Amino acid sequence: MSDFQNHSVSLKVPADAEFIDIVRLTLYGIASKWGFSYEEIEDMKVAVAEACNNAVLHAYQGEEKGQMEIRFEMREDGIRISVKDEGSSFDYEQKESQAESLHDKPLSEVSEGGLGIFMMQALMDEVQVHTQSGTEVILTKFLQRKEELA
Ligand SMILES: Nc1ncnc2c1ncn2[C@@H]1O[C@H](COP(=O)(O)OP(=O)(O)O)[C@@H](O)[C@H]1O
Ligand SMILES: [Mg+2]
Repeated sequence: MSDFQNHSVSLKVPADAEFIDIVRLTLYGIASKWGFSYEEIEDMKVAVAEACNNAVLHAYQGEEKGQMEIRFEMREDGIRISVKDEGSSFDYEQKESQAESLHDKPLSEVSEGGLGIFMMQALMDEVQVHTQSGTEVILTKFLQRKEELA
C-alpha cells in the first residue's frame, strides 16, 4: 500500500455535532485500509469524536459557529489525526494537570470536565494540543507490525 503512505486526507466540516458521523466514517475507511484492527479503529473513533465534540461544544461560544478541519496523515509507523478549530482556546496545561490528577481519584469523585482529554490520552498512543490560534488536537496511533505481534 505504498501509494497510500505519506499522503493525507482532509475534511473541513461545520463545527456541528451532525457532522461527526462523517468524520467517523472517513476515519473507518482510512484506518481499515491502513491495516488497523477493529478494536484499534473503535478506540480511535471514540477519541476523534471526542476531539470533534470539544470543537463543537467549546470552540465557538457566543460567536458564529465556525468550522473544524480533520486531517488524516498516513505514516509508515501509524496514523496521525489532527482536529483543528479556529475558535477561542483554553489553557491546556491546566486542563491536562487536572486530567492527570484523575488517575489517582476514584471514579465517584470525578465530576465535571476534563474527562474528554483523559479519555483521548487513554485511547491513543500520543496526544498533543496546540492552543496558539484556536485549538489543534493531534492524535497518534502507531501501527503494530505483524512481525511484532507474532
Ligand atoms: N476545541 C476546544 N476549544 C476550546 N476549549 C476547549 C476545546 N477542547 C477542550 N476545551 C476546554 O477544555 C476543557 C476540558 O475538555 P474535556 O476534557 O473534553 O472535558 P469536557 O468537554 O467534558 O468539559 C473543556 O471544558 C473546555 O474548557
Ligand atoms: Mg469534552
